[in-house]
Amino acid sequence: MEQDRIFVKPIFTREEIKKRVAELGAIISKDYRDKHLFLIGILKGAYPFFADLSRAISLPLQVDFLMVSGHKVVSELTQNIAGCDILVVEDIVDSGMTWDALKKGLQKSAIKSLKLCALLDKPYRRKMSVEIDYTGFSTPNKYVVGYGLDYKGKYRNLPYIAVLDQISTEEEDLLYSA
Ligand code: IMP
Ligand code: MG
Repeated sequence: MEQDRIFVKPIFTREEIKKRVAELGAIISKDYRDKHLFLIGILKGAYPFFADLSRAISLPLQVDFLMVSGHKVVSELTQNIAGCDILVVEDIVDSGMTWDALKKGLQKSAIKSLKLCALLDKPYRRKMSVEIDYTGFSTPNKYVVGYGLDYKGKYRNLPYIAVLDQISTEEEDLLYSA
């Protein structure tokens, strides 16, 4: 049964994530000190990372969210971002197609700058080249869950990141194409 799926050991523990998020927050706070930082969180996967990272940044930033499904942006921002320094917060960059779509959409607004912060970088299956400005961790070429990342809508609330055990290659291909 799906509920009985066993996880291998976490590849990134909650302590490791906490430490890395604090480091990223400090770097971003320094880089954006004199800027108009506006964080855009990509739902649903980035929600825990976004909440933790935004609180690790010691600047008076603004926030908004975009919903992405199947590499397409399916919602709109609620605020005007013209003139702002946009930092997009993503869960994981895999093929790069989501970032490509986001970049094209956001560049239509008269923004001052656009950068990407991704919790995880999985560079093995890139279809478009992506320059990630701030990366949490590099992941192995495996399907990972937890801390926002899902398997069929579940496991987002795990406080650590783990590789799914007992997953067939066929099943993994299906997950990626979903
Ligand atoms: P990209 O558009 O291929 O770069 O993929 C980005 C999206 O694919 C992420 O935001 C995730 O929703 C999903 N994704 C890619 N790899 C994984 C994984 O290992 N676990 C869970 N979701 C993943
Ligand atoms: Mg997803």
